[in-house]
Amino acid sequence: MRRFSRLRALIALVLAAVCVVELLLVAFAGSKETNKDLLQEETLVGAGSRSKTLKPQHGTTHAPTNNQTESEGGARSNDTSSYNLEEVIANLSKPWAVNETRKAGIRRKFNSVLNATEFTVLTKNFAVLGQNLTFAINPSVVHNLTDEVYRMLPEQSPFTTSKLKRCSVVGNGGILASSYCGKEIDSSDFVFRCNTPPLKGYQKHAGTKSNLTSINPGGVIDIKYRRLRDIGYRNRFLRDMKAYGDLLIPVYGVNMNAYRTSMLALRLLRQKDSTTRGLIINPDHFRGLQDMWREMGLQSRMTTGFYLASVALSVCDSTDLYGFWPFAKGPNHRPVTYHYYDRLKISKGVHNFNWEFDVLYRLHMSGVLKMHAGPCT
Ligand SMILES: *[C@@H]1O[C@H](CO)[C@@H](O)[C@H](O)[C@H]1NC(C)=O
Ligand SMILES: *[C@@H]1O[C@H](CO)[C@@H](O)[C@H](O)[C@H]1NC(C)=O
Ligand SMILES: *[C@@H]1O[C@H](CO)[C@@H](O)[C@H](O)[C@H]1NC(C)=O
Ligand SMILES: *[C@@H]1O[C@H](CO)[C@@H](O)[C@H](O)[C@H]1NC(C)=O
Ligand SMILES: *[C@@H]1O[C@H](CO)[C@@H](O)[C@H](O)[C@H]1NC(C)=O
Ligand SMILES: *[C@@H]1O[C@H](CO)[C@@H](O)[C@H](O)[C@H]1NC(C)=O
Ligand SMILES: *[C@@H]1O[C@H](CO)[C@@H](O)[C@H](O)[C@H]1NC(C)=O
Ligand SMILES: *[C@@H]1O[C@H](CO)[C@@H](O)[C@H](O)[C@H]1NC(C)=O
Repeated sequence: MRRFSRLRALIALVLAAVCVVELLLVAFAGSKETNKDLLQEETLVGAGSRSKTLKPQHGTTHAPTNNQTESEGGARSNDTSSYNLEEVIANLSKPWAVNETRKAGIRRKFNSVLNATEFTVLTKNFAVLGQNLTFAINPSVVHNLTDEVYRMLPEQSPFTTSKLKRCSVVGNGGILASSYCGKEIDSSDFVFRCNTPPLKGYQKHAGTKSNLTSINPGGVIDIKYRRLRDIGYRNRFLRDMKAYGDLLIPVYGVNMNAYRTSMLALRLLRQKDSTTRGLIINPDHFRGLQDMWREMGLQSRMTTGFYLASVALSVCDSTDLYGFWPFAKGPNHRPVTYHYYDRLKISKGVHNFNWEFDVLYRLHMSGVLKMHAGPCT
């Protein structure tokens, strides 16, 4: 029995860890040539920024399959042969300058999907009672916006109430451990985090400021908090969630199970003694962004980290990324764990971290966002 619960705890860690809206695998029948389109996307990366050495490993890192399998190192392969990581690291530590023209072009492009300021989360301002919402990851599931949910919605988007200057998006990559980036992260105006990661004990490297943090209903609420089944888990949940600012919940994500779990959490967060606000991801916006990336070559499910980076680019004056590093080796050939807070080596095969990293790296190189890999000073 004890061994069983340990196993469940481990599974919880694995699930919580993958920075994902955790849901069914939607296999995407795309073609490899789509990556070329990305290169031709003038506003996105600009001509000539593509390096020959940095190449996403479509074959080895994530071949979209219909059978979702746990693959050891699947998305995070040891095989970095097509990456010249030393050069990437060296380039990332060079002085960086923003290119305002490109940044504005990207922001326009992202906001043309749906205006992220208004539509990232559902608000009373635009949501309509009874409207049908198509789930973000599994569009065959549709559910109407009930009276109960409607009453939980904020009047306004969290992004309309204040103009966001410098935003940081903090991924959970092991590259953050020993980064000493905590102070720098905390000096941002707005901090996005993924999947309610542990913060206590990691302040020096990961910081503590948190304004909007995604949570994974299947991995975290169902498993870590045992579906909030008793007062003990409920209190622990409410206590723990205080650290994360607003919680970003994929209520309309993958299926009705995750919906029901999300609703349990939302109801709890509405209780008098709760200080945390639950916000609901607008599934149309999530899907719109994912479709946009798929047109540009993403062949697997968008990670939450990548989604949050896209949101930040849409709503913030400037965007800094920390903890985005899908490789097993970092600066000075130092081994890098999957997360900054545990020793996990495995990851789920539903994502293509390398493809996403490649895009983010190119956005760094073209002056759109700043990615941090080395230690902060
Ligand atoms: C590093 O930067 C240089 C100069 O901008 C560029 O020529 C080279 O392709 C970059 N290397 C990688 C791996 O991106
Ligand atoms: C998918 O399933 C087939 C048959 O069940 C198996 O042969 C194949 O190896 C699986 N693919 C992956 C990536 O696990
Ligand atoms: C990755 O590297 C580790 C240690 O360097 C090794 O034990 C493991 O077998 C490697 N995995 C693969 C898939 O090559
Ligand atoms: C900034 O980006 C624009 C558009 O891609 C480009 O034409 C311009 O040369 C870039 N400026 C600098 C300083 O790199
Ligand atoms: C998005 O909406 C905000 C608030 O209504 C507005 O200020 C902004 O100009 C809009 N952005 C775009 C790109 O349309
Ligand atoms: C929602 O979908 C159901 C089932 O397809 C349909 O009967 C209903 O009219 C739709 N409601 C709205 C508001 O579109
Ligand atoms: C909303 O969906 C529920 C559950 O499927 C259904 O019972 C209810 O009639 C629907 N309400 C509207 C207004 O469509
Ligand atoms: C972000 O969160 C911090 C607390 O972690 C808070 O002090 C700050 O006002 C928030 N910033 C915005 C723009 O809401």
